[in-house]
Amino acid sequence: MPALHVQMLPQFLAGQPLQETITVVIDVLRASTTMIHALAHGASSIIPCLTVEEAQQTASRLPTDSRLLGGERHGRLIPGFDLGNSPLDYTLERVQGKTLVFTTTNGTRALLECRTAARVAIGAFVNRQAIVDLLSKEGRDVHLVCAGTDGQLTAEDILFAGAVASDLLSLDPSPWVAGNVQAQMAADYFQARSRSREQFCEAFSSSRGATNLIELGMTRDIDRCLEENLFSCVPCWEARTGMVQLN
Ligand code: MLT
Repeated sequence: MPALHVQMLPQFLAGQPLQETITVVIDVLRASTTMIHALAHGASSIIPCLTVEEAQQTASRLPTDSRLLGGERHGRLIPGFDLGNSPLDYTLERVQGKTLVFTTTNGTRALLECRTAARVAIGAFVNRQAIVDLLSKEGRDVHLVCAGTDGQLTAEDILFAGAVASDLLSLDPSPWVAGNVQAQMAADYFQARSRSREQFCEAFSSSRGATNLIELGMTRDIDRCLEENLFSCVPCWEARTGMVQLN
């Protein structure tokens, strides 16, 4: 039986053998939601970078008309970058055919922590069902990895990990087992906070990530990141090439 693990922070992956597993990187507000928008709207690939300097150097090696620099620091557009980290900015008109060089505070960092996994997928509410379908099809051990914020747990990421964990663990009969206590905790947390859409939106919008965005006046991003199944694609990162592309 495949085991489903939740890691509420990337550092909980330390020492875990990932070689045979699929990991799902979760930074619902907003890095994973934004990367899904970019690729769903026709970006040819995304190159995730740890630092602003690395992103600038990577971009400088690409033809200017075929690349975009995107991401955030402290939630805001990075000086000299083309795009920030709002999924709403990653429109077809803006990104189609482009290579996106992308760096964010926590999301791209969490992605790079998963480099030894057999497969690294990117998940958020906007592709929830596609993630569930991919994991069901693969049938191998899974780690749902929450990016968190600056080393602290964030409810919005745990809600998404819990949504996927409950989709898979509550199948009757379920071919999945909970691989760690965090998997069952995340599923229980999601179920307790989603008895109605209103209650779920309230839990999501009072999370650490949402509070930061409200302070920055970016409430439209919260609404977009709350939407479910806007896309049926799953971006996957290939450590060998350093690129995120559609599965
Ligand atoms: C991150 O990677 O830390 C986030 O995506 C932050 C943000 O959206 O501003």
